[in-house]
Amino acid sequence: MDVKVGFVQTSPMLGEVEKNVESALLLASSKEADLLVFPELFNTGYLFLSKDDLAKVAEPIPNGPTTERLMKFASEHSVSVVAGIAERDGRAFYNSAVIISSDGDYVGKYRKLHLFSTEKLVFEPGNLGLQVFDLGKIRVGVMICFDWIFPEVARVLSLKGAHLIAHPANLVLPYAQTAMLARSIENRVFTITANRIGCEERGGKKLCFTGKSQITSPDMKVLTRASEDLMEVGVVSIDPREAENKNITELNNLWEDRRPKEYYILTR
Ligand code: ACM
Repeated sequence: MDVKVGFVQTSPMLGEVEKNVESALLLASSKEADLLVFPELFNTGYLFLSKDDLAKVAEPIPNGPTTERLMKFASEHSVSVVAGIAERDGRAFYNSAVIISSDGDYVGKYRKLHLFSTEKLVFEPGNLGLQVFDLGKIRVGVMICFDWIFPEVARVLSLKGAHLIAHPANLVLPYAQTAMLARSIENRVFTITANRIGCEERGGKKLCFTGKSQITSPDMKVLTRASEDLMEVGVVSIDPREAENKNITELNNLWEDRRPKEYYILTR
């Protein structure tokens, strides 16, 4: 069964929510797909200096303008969406991703578990656990950016039945694109890292984002990879059933060969 999956690599301007969303959706509508993954904080930009700063653009999920706009886009284009949004829930802020079905229905949200650097000053750590969403043609596990450095995240999502890990990102370190190949082979899953491009400079800090959004396969191939400096959409056809075969050799199955009793230190 062929499922067309892709990333939308964008270049948001800090605080310009409507412009960021509309330009990302214009780009996204240039290719047909069953599932599209947008970057972390794709609607707002990244470098928030304070909670007050973040409060100006953070939105409730699902009853916020960006989620509602994405739902409309999903139903018009019959495409499922995973997209990173700054979420406001009462007085708390989360670095979240929203998941929307190809009918345009709200499916759920994920709140980033592992906050990177100064994100810790403005966001709360995620409290919704690690979830896999059934999108009809494919089961999708969701993690956000720096979650990649904890291999337990991709492992748990894969053990929970994900065919594909959707990975909205705002990467600034140069490691994740290579590390995600390991996440793919060690779990035999597809991954989509949807990264952004451009730089943000504020409060004496400058961050440049590394682009190179990519899609990887259960046999550790890069199926497509974007440039480091252009807004791009990348779409490939995959067969999700490939990710259900956990055999590495005739005598080695990734799930059957695990020795979880020896890993107890991981849960301490
Ligand atoms: C990151 O987690 N945005 C690096």
